[in-house]
Amino acid sequence: MGIINKCLFPVAGYGTRFLPATKAIPKEMLPILTKPLIQYGVEEAMSAGIRTMAMVTSKHKQAIENHFKTHPEIESSIQGTAKESLLDEVNRTIEQCDFAYIEQQQMLGLGHAIYTGKPLIGNEPFAVILPDDLCANDGNSVLLQMTKLYAQHPDCCIVAIEAVSMDAVDKYGVIDGNLLNGSNNAYRVHNMVEKPSPAVAPSNLAIIGRYILTPDIFTVLENTKPDKNGEIQITDALMTLAKKGKVIAYQFQGRRFDCGNVKGFVEANTVFAQEML
Ligand code: G1P
Repeated sequence: MGIINKCLFPVAGYGTRFLPATKAIPKEMLPILTKPLIQYGVEEAMSAGIRTMAMVTSKHKQAIENHFKTHPEIESSIQGTAKESLLDEVNRTIEQCDFAYIEQQQMLGLGHAIYTGKPLIGNEPFAVILPDDLCANDGNSVLLQMTKLYAQHPDCCIVAIEAVSMDAVDKYGVIDGNLLNGSNNAYRVHNMVEKPSPAVAPSNLAIIGRYILTPDIFTVLENTKPDKNGEIQITDALMTLAKKGKVIAYQFQGRRFDCGNVKGFVEANTVFAQEML
């Protein structure tokens, strides 16, 4: 067993920014070149030693479940051809990991989605990956970097952060904190605000879609009030723990593509194509 054994993927959302593509296809199944975003996420979790993938999903997103099942008919049709290896990576995830699914019936924010996954996680620390945020790395994945930091601070939640331009802060949870002693990339968080306007943002350090959460987050989420849009925000729940000094923000090494919008998605495809084709 590793230090973190489970990763939660909140994948129930409709992906309306990508309509009409996402009418019948989950946005997490959109590919960067030939590999769906969700598979990049699962492979990143594996790179951090995680073998249980907990998907908070919806009844419209059966394609994600199908992707992580073997497909004997396709396999026999490509056997012995040049295409034979094309399923190797996804088959490795199927062989090495357990996949568990739970349905989120209402879309009430990221905090609500994470709370919905509680029965799949139980009473242990866990990672969260938002597959829209695709993180490119060469062997040292963002989640692996975060797991190493968590090992030094096992009573803290860790959020990944990136410096963004001030006019983009209203798309993210934004933190304020003090660098940990001797560190140039890890902050003890003392304030965090969900999607602030630039005028009131505490900094330009934006939370991206990677978290390591301690199981006490579930109790905090139970007591976190919905925001003005009726959504339960993970940022608000984490603020409760930050007040106790129990949240660390980590400025990761690597490059992130915001594949939740068309521009970032095209950029990721372009960069990956330049490197791989
Ligand atoms: C969510 C979180 C936000 C975080 C972002 C990262 O927002 O609420 O704090 O910065 O993910 O991608 P969403 O993009 O789901 O609106």
